[in-house]
This record gives sequence, structure tokens and C-alpha cells, in this order.
Amino acid sequence: MGTMQILGVANFTATTSHAFIQRGGATTHRRSQPVSATAAGAPTKLKQIAHSMPPEKIELFKSLEPWASENVLPLLKPVEKCWQPNELLPDPAKPVADFMDEVQALRDRTKELPDEYFVVLVGDMVTEDAVPTYQTMLNTADGTRDETGSSPTPWAVWTRAWTAEENRHGDLLRSYLYLSGRVDMLMIERTVQYLIGAGMNPGLENNPYLGYVYTSFQERATFVSHCNTARLAKEGGDPVLANICGVIAADEKRHERAYVRIVEKLLQVDPNETILAIGKLLRNKITMPAHLMYDGQDPQLFEHFAFVAHKLGVYTPTDYADIMDFLVGRWGLEKLEGLKGDGRREQEYVCGLAPRIRKLQARAEERAQKDGFQRLKFSWIFNREV
Ligand SMILES: [Fe+2]
Ligand SMILES: [Fe+2]
Repeated sequence: MGTMQILGVANFTATTSHAFIQRGGATTHRRSQPVSATAAGAPTKLKQIAHSMPPEKIELFKSLEPWASENVLPLLKPVEKCWQPNELLPDPAKPVADFMDEVQALRDRTKELPDEYFVVLVGDMVTEDAVPTYQTMLNTADGTRDETGSSPTPWAVWTRAWTAEENRHGDLLRSYLYLSGRVDMLMIERTVQYLIGAGMNPGLENNPYLGYVYTSFQERATFVSHCNTARLAKEGGDPVLANICGVIAADEKRHERAYVRIVEKLLQVDPNETILAIGKLLRNKITMPAHLMYDGQDPQLFEHFAFVAHKLGVYTPTDYADIMDFLVGRWGLEKLEGLKGDGRREQEYVCGLAPRIRKLQARAEERAQKDGFQRLKFSWIFNREV
């Protein structure tokens, strides 16, 4: 694929993309990382930075454990109160004819949904299915990682239970897509295997300050994205799929509240280090979880998927700016006190970023309208174009 107009601002898909917000707020379209190399097991060229948190800060996370038990763990839902994928799908325990009727009804409902909707839903599902990567990522963080695999610290308890909740998201979407008959499951399954094999590199540096800012952003982004696929399913005539995307979005919202609360606490006990972490992530770009997505065919699969998500309004640069606005407001960053010189500089940068992105975005949209959209082929929908 040659150069392509991706609304000028590439890769803003929620669960599924990386936003390349460059230093100074300029945005560019950058080609994908050489995912074929990662797929082949060759080392990637991704920058690797480790252990950037000063070791004495580990004590701070230790001291926050009672607080986390009291304020974070209650945001988990007991298993018995959680929905399970099977409750939202055709029931295989019914007599075959009844089960087949339910499958037929599912297929009738999805008939009117366009191919591009399925591209976005597949990308979201693939991203959710790479949950082993996200648990690995959380367990790289100094001071909060699960040291044994069943550690009783609240950080570790949260990470395991969060993973267990998330694991239902990919399962549910996957089963629905499978039954719909609208997508090429073989290519989707290959994509998942490639993606988990490739991992991710969001630049979290084993640093839980960076980690919890990152997850705050991501949970909000996935919430927005699943809300939008719910809305589009409803408009497209499938209220059951709308409900499915809706219940997933509700989980993401609850997860967002937990991570946002952790960062809020960090801002209270260690404002300077925390604002530096926020500034660093936003300056470098928020790398989306599935940025190394690959199906064995399209080396720019992720960018192409992000483009369709943007075009459909499932996740856009405007959403990215909205999330930033939300977090700046929720964390009271404009009025944050107790900062040193470097912290104040980051505060100013972070608080001014959303308006800059909006301005760039408006210009990019204008250009895109003029140039028109390129059609893209996806293996996930049997190489049809959208
Ligand atoms: Fe999820
Ligand atoms: Fe989530």
C-alpha cells in the first residue's frame, strides 16, 4: 500500500491503535513497525527502556497497599455477579433446532451491518484477545508486579482479577463473530496468534506511574470505542450486538474508574513524579495496545484498521482529545500544586495538548475531505474492500 490519506492523523483507534502525537503537538502518519519481522521472531527496532522509576519509590507503592485494598479492589465485580459470554449467545444446551433458530436470528440481525463495521469489530476483538500481553505488561512494573503468580498484594490481586474480567470480552466478541458467518475466522485467528507473539511496546519502562496513567487512558479509550460499536449495531438493526458491546463498555468504565483513582492518589502523594509520567506518555505518544497487529498479509494492518475505525466514528482523534480533556479535569491537573520546575513545565504541556490536537485534526479532516478516501482490502472479510 502506498502513501495513504488517513485523515492526516493516523492511528487513533481505541483498543486498537496507537496515536502518534509527536513532540510539540505535530502529528504525522508513520509507517507501521516491521511487524513481519516480529512475526518471524527477529528482534524489533522498538526502543527498549527499563526500570526508570527510582528504586526508593517501590516503598511508596508498598505503603499504598492498605489504601489499594480499600479503594481499588472494591471496583472488581464478584464472579457470580459478572455476566458470562454464554449468557449473551445462542444457547448450545438447547435442542439443536432451537439452537439453530437462535443462530439464524443472529445472522438475520447482522445482515444489514456493513463490512466496515465488521472490520472494526474484528479489530476490537483481536485487541481484546491479546489480553495475555496486557497482563504481562502490568507484571513488568516495579513495586506492583505479581511476584509469584498468586501474590496476595492488592496490586497483584487486581491485575489477575482484571485480566479474568477482560478475558470475557474477546471470548464474547469472538463467538458472536464466528456465528455471524460474516468474517474469515481463519485469518482472524492467525492475527490473534501473530499479535500475542509480537507483544507490545507502550514505553512503560517498568514504571508503575507510567503504567497506571497508560491504563487510565486505555480503559477510557476502550469504553468510548465499545460504546460507539454498540450505537452503530443498534442503528444497523442488531440490538443484541448493541447490548453485547454495551456490557463490555460497562466493564471498561469500571476499570477506568479504578486506574483513574490510582493515579489520583499518586497525584496526591507524589504530584511531581506523577505529572512527569503523564507528560512523558503524552509527549512520546500513547501507543495503542494492538500496534503490532498483523495477519500475515498486510504489514500496515493496524493503521488500516485504525483508519476504518476513524472513518466510522468508532475511535477518532477527537475522542483522543476528549479523553485528555476528561483526565485533565478529573485529576485537576490545571490546579495541581506542589510541583517543581520540571513538573510545572509538564503541567503546562499536558493541559495545553487537547486544544492543539483539535486544531490539527480540523485541518487534517479538511484535507481528507478534499482528497477523498482510499479503499482498503481486509483479509478478515475475505479480502473484500471497504
Ligand atoms: Fe476489554
Ligand atoms: Fe479494559
